[in-house]
Amino acid sequence: MKLVAAGQTFLLEHCLSCPPSLQAAHLLPRIIRKALSEEKRVSTKTSAADLVTETDHLVEDLIISELQKRFPSHRFIAEEAAAAGAKCVLTPSPTWIVDPIDGTCNFVHRFPTVAVSIGFAVNQELEFGVIYHCTEERLYTGRRGQGAFCNGQRLQVSRETDLSKALVLTEIGPKRDPATLKLFLGNMERLLHAKAHGVRVIGSSTLALCHLASGAADAYYQFGLHCWDLAAATVIIREAGGIVMDTSGGPLDLMSCRVVAAGTREMATLIARALQTINYGRDDEK
Ligand code: IPD
Repeated sequence: MKLVAAGQTFLLEHCLSCPPSLQAAHLLPRIIRKALSEEKRVSTKTSAADLVTETDHLVEDLIISELQKRFPSHRFIAEEAAAAGAKCVLTPSPTWIVDPIDGTCNFVHRFPTVAVSIGFAVNQELEFGVIYHCTEERLYTGRRGQGAFCNGQRLQVSRETDLSKALVLTEIGPKRDPATLKLFLGNMERLLHAKAHGVRVIGSSTLALCHLASGAADAYYQFGLHCWDLAAATVIIREAGGIVMDTSGGPLDLMSCRVVAAGTREMATLIARALQTINYGRDDEK
């Protein structure tokens, strides 16, 4: 496929690089950066902490319409379409998996850690991923078998295997009922008892996963993470030499809303063993 042959630097611009869409490609980060500092109309989705703005919709519509023009037979799984009731089913067809603004809560609060994330799968296999850090203008890319990069610099995960020397990243997820919070805090507590150097929550799962791919953290885990948060980052981490798996210790299931990722299998396994499951259901059953 022409797209897959496009080279290491398919980036956001490259994903959308045909002449009619060039403008849109350059527009996306600008739209997000401009909107970051403005008043927003905020709505909630599955919980009071699960936010969406008109910019999420605008950016998602732009990405999909531009890609559709270029690849009319391809399928799409996208965060806001899913929230509106579209089914999230990953078939063997070429499929784009889109999170228009990851870190919407940050975006609402003008906390400058927000990203656009676009993954691409064929035959249910993730082929490449692109994540753009909108405020720091960092573009993370990964393509199966061809490495992972940030603004052209090759990424390499940490080789740490000892949990007592690890910096661990996680995200809270949208559920805030007492039972979920107890499990979430219990998981964090167990890692701190195991003497992890620290546990960080930055408000954007895709950018946290990019930090892991860059070797700036040793592990990541989360319950409640959706396929659009995970698709692009999974390719980037794997291509940076890391492991992405299910919290049970088995292979990653993109639709399961559960993930552990780490620089080494040893670290991922230690984290997985420390966790108690928080049930978020499956993306393909909603
Ligand atoms: C969310 C963020 C958040 C994570 C949630 C994600 P969104 O994505 O990545 O950090 O805790 O699970 O769904 O809603 O900002 O695109």
